[in-house]
Amino acid sequence: MKTNKKLEDEINFKNVFTNPLRMFGWVFVIFIGLILALGIYYVKNIGDISLNVQPTGLITDSVNVKTELNAKKGGISPAVDLAVVKNPKPDFVAKGKSLFEANCKSCHGDNGMGDGPAGTVLNPKPRNFHEVDGWTNGRNIDLMYKTLQEGIIKNGMAAYEYLAPADRFAIISYIRTFAEFPPIKEEELKSLDDKYQISKGVVVPSQIPVSLAESNLTSESAEVIKKIQDAKSLLSSAKENPGALIVNRVSMNKEKLIAAFLNQNENQNLESFINTVIANPINCGFKPTVAQLSREELKTMYEFLKAATL
Ligand code: HEC
Repeated sequence: MKTNKKLEDEINFKNVFTNPLRMFGWVFVIFIGLILALGIYYVKNIGDISLNVQPTGLITDSVNVKTELNAKKGGISPAVDLAVVKNPKPDFVAKGKSLFEANCKSCHGDNGMGDGPAGTVLNPKPRNFHEVDGWTNGRNIDLMYKTLQEGIIKNGMAAYEYLAPADRFAIISYIRTFAEFPPIKEEELKSLDDKYQISKGVVVPSQIPVSLAESNLTSESAEVIKKIQDAKSLLSSAKENPGALIVNRVSMNKEKLIAAFLNQNENQNLESFINTVIANPINCGFKPTVAQLSREELKTMYEFLKAATL
């Protein structure tokens, strides 16, 4: 009987405020509740939650890792003092570090080990700067500069020719702090200078936002651009339309969604629409939650999109 009394004590909440320790027995229930709530929150927001920090718009859509670039006007970038490149001062290296963190860390990792979150899907893996062997272009300064100028596109290493040459050298100087690198030779700098006129100032191309580039790519003509814009404004104005409601709920990127829809329009029917969207929601501008829609809802959405893009 003694044990019974104890049990009763434990589930009796009358004195829970004077003796909060009584709650202790419920700790695991609270814990499970918390995990559940977090889990539901995660699943509901799965379209927006991502570990990936943005590399600058170079990974293909299948992983949808990209950042928005700021529009930048091209022009002549200032000349680079090659003496600084040869003997970088701490502030030059510090600048390189912050540029590295903004542009390269997502793939090459905090310490240049090639273990950044955005690099996990790439094959070959992003270069581990601590390793000496196996470089595609090479570790000499002229070869690293070439990598940044041209990229190694087929392997997922983008070109960074829009970074000012001085900034590229700053990043390289920072990368060179990760390990022992070959000393900088006068000829290497000279050949770079002959090739790219670095010490005179270099023409830097303009840079346009990814979304603009994307819509430029997906829409060959002004007509298509107009169609996309019309459909987009219809989407935001037709608030009560059931089809628009659904699209707004499950879209990740409306412009992309409409462009993708237009791209398939030729001989697209409801069946092929559903198949493509479910197979690859992100490429079609949808959140993955689109897979939770009923057939009826998908049909409503399809019909709205069809009418909106006529
Ligand atoms: C999207 C991921 C990604 C980002 C962002 C990225 N890189 Fe890379 N990088 C790679 C991959 C993948 C390779 C390996 C290419 C190869 O082995 O051919 C690589 C290789 C390199 C190499 C070695 C090339 C060689 O000769 O093997 C250098 C140097 C380099 N990156 C510098 C940079 C710098 C500097 C930045 C930032 C301005 C940067 N990377 C941003 C993916 C990335």
